[in-house]
Amino acid sequence: MIHHQHDIVIIGAGLAGLRAALETSQVADTAVLSKVFPTRSHSGAAQGGIAASLANASDDSWEVHMFDTVKGSDYLGDQDAIEILVKEAPATVIEFEHMGVPFSRNPDGTIAQRRFGGHSRPRACYAADYTGHVLLHTLYEQCIKHGVNFYSEFYVVSLIMNKGNCCGVVALDIIGGELHIFHSKAVMFATGGYGRAYKITSNAHANTGDGLSIVYRIGIPIEDMEFVQFHPTGLYQHGILVTEGARGEGGYLLNRDGERFMKRYAPEKMELAPRDLTARAEQTEINEGRGIDGKDYILIDLRHLGAEKIMERLPQIHDLALSFVGVDCIKEPVPIQPTAHYSMGGIPTNKHGQVVIDKDNTPVKGLYAAGECACVSVHGANRLGTNSQLEASLFGRRTGKTMAEFLQREEGFTPLPEDAAKPAEEEIAAILGNEGKESVAQIREELQVSMMDNCGIFRDEKKLQKELEIIKGLQERYKHIHIDDKGKRCNTDLIDALELGHLLDFVEVIVAGALNRTESRGSHYRTDYPKRDDENWLKHTLAYRTDKGPRFDYKKVVITRYQPTERKY
Ligand code: FUM
Repeated sequence: MIHHQHDIVIIGAGLAGLRAALETSQVADTAVLSKVFPTRSHSGAAQGGIAASLANASDDSWEVHMFDTVKGSDYLGDQDAIEILVKEAPATVIEFEHMGVPFSRNPDGTIAQRRFGGHSRPRACYAADYTGHVLLHTLYEQCIKHGVNFYSEFYVVSLIMNKGNCCGVVALDIIGGELHIFHSKAVMFATGGYGRAYKITSNAHANTGDGLSIVYRIGIPIEDMEFVQFHPTGLYQHGILVTEGARGEGGYLLNRDGERFMKRYAPEKMELAPRDLTARAEQTEINEGRGIDGKDYILIDLRHLGAEKIMERLPQIHDLALSFVGVDCIKEPVPIQPTAHYSMGGIPTNKHGQVVIDKDNTPVKGLYAAGECACVSVHGANRLGTNSQLEASLFGRRTGKTMAEFLQREEGFTPLPEDAAKPAEEEIAAILGNEGKESVAQIREELQVSMMDNCGIFRDEKKLQKELEIIKGLQERYKHIHIDDKGKRCNTDLIDALELGHLLDFVEVIVAGALNRTESRGSHYRTDYPKRDDENWLKHTLAYRTDKGPRFDYKKVVITRYQPTERKY
């Protein structure tokens, strides 16, 4: 067993993890562990922009940004956290500018801003359609400059706790095959999303939600997991993101009759309605036979934007459509379908990034989280596009600051328990030693397809019950898997099996939570309960693991400025 000691260990090298590391590296010895090379983190796939009320393209203010975000969240977002998000957004973007992020510009040199769904002003600051990519690379450079220690291709298997304090993690060096103990004063999860629970997703292969089940398994709840965002425009059959910026620039959606059908669903906002509403509109068109050729896709038409604008503002979309579906978007409309994109729920935290264990927000000493794996909750039941790059960066920085302050108060390291690595060793040994007949790939495929069918955009009791039974069956079959590669080095069979174990743990919470929540709100749409029910459900879900499945508790939504009203676009 190889031992390391760092003041701070951050898991995940996307925007949240890197921004936190940049903050802590100024005052503490900081390590970042990432299961992929840092600049391959999924934040780099974010395309269209990062929100801030800079008012470079129209009037704007943090108050308007706040109202749009609260309304977009279907009033489930915590308004104290949202206020921080929108007030600190302009400084966050300007800080990136000063680090050297190559934002697209207006003729007067100010940062260009475009429209995005659910935002009533053009406030997405962008770098063509590579915004996440440039933010990620800039932060990585800054972290290298400030001496952050990177452990690339290290896969965290378990948390180390001692008397309720978090004091490190156990991680597998994917290349070398050894387990390593990382002893630290603080651990931060920034492990991103879990789109790979679904067959059609915009998410990278690595997005299997491991962080969620690592904390869930040790008795920490996970929050609001029933809220899963489908992005309206994923490339047909691949799910790869076609940025909402394409609609922000004027692209529109067409059904088989060549009709801009959004006029029937959101007459004022049209294609720039929020994602939950737009994805439902598309799926309704498809379900009612108005998909192209009666199939399960529709079109996004960009041709009228012209070659010059497409190549200047949307070059990646042009490239992706050509490479993956063989369509030149300058000449032809692009086939698209809704794609699983983002998790509004996650590991519960307070506004400072401390992980909390109950409805009273009691923090877990030494444990922090930010970004998509966390639920602070600024997105409530539905996130607005461009608010996630903002949230990851801004709450990444805040969490880094909290950890730095914690370190100033904290004298030393909490001692490691004697059996610190035992759970990780046992989990890996069980997989390597299992001689069952079940295939990891087969179970994963069945899970992803059934989640799409039964716990996707439209849900009802029957489908959700069916999915719960399917998951129970898959969990049982998981006990009898085998993997072919029993070796140590670069054992991707082993990683696949570990990831599947995580997927099977937390999908149960998504489905049970969706069954439990007998209302429709934001991304969670129950055809058998089509109305929002504030009287009974204006509350966050906390799910705790038990042997019989999740146990639910509830937390109050923080409402400050805006009382819930009917949401119309
Ligand atoms: O559509 C997009 O460019 C995605 C942005 C986001 O999810 O915030």
